[in-house]
Amino acid sequence: MPKIGIIGGSGVYGVFEPKETVKVHTPYGRPSAPVEIGEIEGVEVAFIPRHGKYHEFPPHEVPYRANIWALKELGVERVIGINAVGSLKEEYKPGDIVIIDQFIDFTKKREYTFYNGPRVAHISMADPFCPELRRIFIETAKELNLPVHEKGTYICIEGPRFSTRAESRMFRQFADVIGMTLVPEVNLARELGMCYVNISTVTDYDVWAEKPVDAQEVIRVMKENEEKVQRLLRKAIPKIPEERKCGCADVLKTAFV
Ligand code: ADE
Repeated sequence: MPKIGIIGGSGVYGVFEPKETVKVHTPYGRPSAPVEIGEIEGVEVAFIPRHGKYHEFPPHEVPYRANIWALKELGVERVIGINAVGSLKEEYKPGDIVIIDQFIDFTKKREYTFYNGPRVAHISMADPFCPELRRIFIETAKELNLPVHEKGTYICIEGPRFSTRAESRMFRQFADVIGMTLVPEVNLARELGMCYVNISTVTDYDVWAEKPVDAQEVIRVMKENEEKVQRLLRKAIPKIPEERKCGCADVLKTAFV
């Protein structure tokens, strides 16, 4: 059973050959696509393309709950989320990798929880990301000489549209990068006691800068970033220990009312 799950773009297919495809039905419907099981450097992993096999789910329609539930059901304990983001700060350059440590939620209408009653849970989100996984990915990115930021605050907007210049200038006051898909994926993984780490790759300077962001340009830089992410996954995944010492599984102990 795979203990590591990856949710990301189709670029991940470059690092592993799917050996098996599993159709999972969850209480929240089907995941974005059947779950692919394969190996990265001898370690078994499960993979879900977040936007679907044919990129048919826009950010606000991704079945986030089904994706996380499906991975949990397959035995996954640790989730690696890979996202493309815009930059809100000069020093976060297109082509850079950010191991996100905080987020701000500006989404509007998503399914944020598995606990809609009668069971109610308030999980701590002070430090939303797994410290053990963050450390491994930061260290490995440095070993590979990849342009990595050890920290970064991600503001998650509803999308699918990009921001106005006024919005972008406001977001810039309190976040480093901007995207549309981190929330509620991270919340949901945490609600099931799974570890979650986020690897964001910068594709563009958002519209606070002079030139407006354009979807074609985002896709072009995203392709260039894929190779870096693949190298990072190949080298970092074998370093992930079997046993978790991070405390992510204990989040639920204090969450129920
Ligand atoms: N994803 C990639 N670039 C983005 C941007 N500028 N705004 C929101 N999401 C993004």
